[in-house]
Amino acid sequence: MKGSMAELKTKINGIEFPNPVLTAAGPNVRNGELLIEAAQGGAGGLVSKTISTVAADDPRPTIRCLPCKSLMNCETWAETPPEEFIEDIKKVKSETVPLIVSIGYKPEEVALLGPLVERELHPDAIEFSVHYVGRSVEPIVEIARTLKEVVTVPIWLKLSPNFLDIEELAVAASPYIDAFVAINSFGPVLDFDPDNVSPYLGSEYGQGWLSGSSILPIALSIVYRVARAQEKPVIGVGGVSSGIDAIKFLMAGASAVQVCSAAIKNGHSIYGEIAQGIDRWLDSHNYGSVSEIIGLYGKSLTKRKLFTNKPKMTVVEENCVGCGVCVSRCIQGALSMEDKLCIVNYDRCIGCGFCAGFCKFNAMELRKG
Ligand SMILES: Cc1cc2nc3c(=O)[nH]c(=O)nc-3n(C[C@H](O)[C@H](O)[C@H](O)COP(=O)(O)O)c2cc1C
Repeated sequence: MKGSMAELKTKINGIEFPNPVLTAAGPNVRNGELLIEAAQGGAGGLVSKTISTVAADDPRPTIRCLPCKSLMNCETWAETPPEEFIEDIKKVKSETVPLIVSIGYKPEEVALLGPLVERELHPDAIEFSVHYVGRSVEPIVEIARTLKEVVTVPIWLKLSPNFLDIEELAVAASPYIDAFVAINSFGPVLDFDPDNVSPYLGSEYGQGWLSGSSILPIALSIVYRVARAQEKPVIGVGGVSSGIDAIKFLMAGASAVQVCSAAIKNGHSIYGEIAQGIDRWLDSHNYGSVSEIIGLYGKSLTKRKLFTNKPKMTVVEENCVGCGVCVSRCIQGALSMEDKLCIVNYDRCIGCGFCAGFCKFNAMELRKG
């Protein structure tokens, strides 16, 4: 990347990505033209919209930006027949970044689409979504096994966040796949227009799938758990819209991130902006490369201070500026201000740590009780 100081390259299954910010399957990458625009916007890799053996026909409206700023959608897979989609995507191969084609869903469908995509497009990898195939482990492993047998390129399993035991699935599927992608959108969820008492989306009862910033903590947890449970690389997706978001996924164990909702909201330049944000963060924290921070979070946990008895919130007096923000945030009424200094009433303080999250001056610290 132009002007980049840190090394942003990342490698997954031997595929080299110039930066770790990839597109995620969605309307932002539903044809060749949009994929090329994503590459021009700075994406380090291109993952296309999921195709299945038949074109989808989704009820409108399909996407709504909710009051919580996240998106709710009822889009399924590509509305273009697979042959037409593949023909259109051929123009994307001239782009210099890797191409990953997303397919779904059942074993017989991926058995048909996998070889077709490999022969016609020579993608760097094939991602397969299991969004509509239930929550049990065995049917998903069967899809992975089926696809592995019929293609030679690496295959990436895109996980949905609804599995009850994500570790069990990760361990069972790991031998048959080359990487995990976590996560797909979360749901089903519901929001609607109360003034007109009407659904936002055209789907059955207006339900949809949640994506964007609200699902970031869910995705981060699944990425961390999948990366810890088995050896195959993990690609993080869910609510990434800034360099710092991406840094968290890398630290949780992801080798790259994917972006969908932030691109729908902000346009194709978001991929490059996130990559630049990663670069700036690495530089300002004295890291030389993306690879240095992958999995750092798990490693840091071994050094964590654990409180064996109830800790006490302690005011670091030299840092306290007397702003009073902590006082206004304490629902226990345990904090007060005296002579521009925060005082803790230990009869009321429960040591929850909530106030510390609002102190910009590192003046609130939990210490051994
Ligand atoms: C409108 C829309 C359509 C989507 N279509 C697909 C799809 O076809 N295949 C798929 O695997 N994921 C699909 N997704 C899920 C995204 O790829 C991604 O996993 C999810 O939205 C979380 O990432 P985000 O918060 O960056 O959007 C879609 C998401 C949205 C918002």
